Amino acid sequence: MSAQNTNGTAVITGASSGIGAVYADRLAQRGYDLLLVARDQKRLSGRAANLSAKTGRTVEILPADLTLRSDLLHLEERLRSDHTVTALVNNAGFGATSQLTDSKIEELENMIQLNVTALTRLTSSTLLPSLLSRRNCSTGPTAAPRHMSSTSLNPSITR
Ligand SMILES: NC(=O)c1ccc[n+]([C@@H]2O[C@H](COP(=O)([O-])OP(=O)(O)OC[C@H]3O[C@@H](n4cnc5c(N)ncnc54)[C@H](OP(=O)(O)O)[C@@H]3O)[C@@H](O)[C@H]2O)c1
Repeated sequence: MSAQNTNGTAVITGASSGIGAVYADRLAQRGYDLLLVARDQKRLSGRAANLSAKTGRTVEILPADLTLRSDLLHLEERLRSDHTVTALVNNAGFGATSQLTDSKIEELENMIQLNVTALTRLTSSTLLPSLLSRRNCSTGPTAAPRHMSSTSLNPSITR
């Protein structure tokens, strides 16, 4: 964690490009340390170095393919055990561009794994219970739990 005041750590999946990279930039500027997740380690490292130099925040990377169960479980464990985490941006994902009849079933399975299974597991089974239990805690980062997603998750997570 950085020496400056912090809002805790924001974990951003798919942080190496597009919408996720913008979230990373904006959250670092708003006082979050970052844990950036995506597959391409080199691209993640470059993004982390830039953001750290620009904002002075602590920026860590975790290369992971969230369609792979072992990588997903590794990230889940990190979310479960790292009590500095106060925000999760579930952004890694992709959309189908072909007609269903022209699509490869393996690609569709990957899409479901990333857009639905990974998002649901990261949110409901690991991070959310821990964030909600710490919501009224008086020590450590006490920001209200934050969750953002580029795809929809039902049932709603707010209460
Ligand atoms: N752009 C839009 O207009 C728009 C609108 C609505 C919703 N969305 C949704 O928002 C999300 C992000 O969109 P975007 O346009 O920013 O996409 P993008 O530029 O393609 O970025 C996708 C990010 O996800 C990472 N990623 C892809 N597959 C992954 C995997 N298996 N495991 C871990 N990380 C993975 C990519 O890095 P690596 O390749 O290094 O893994 C990259 O950092 C997508 O779910 C998209 O469907 C986009």
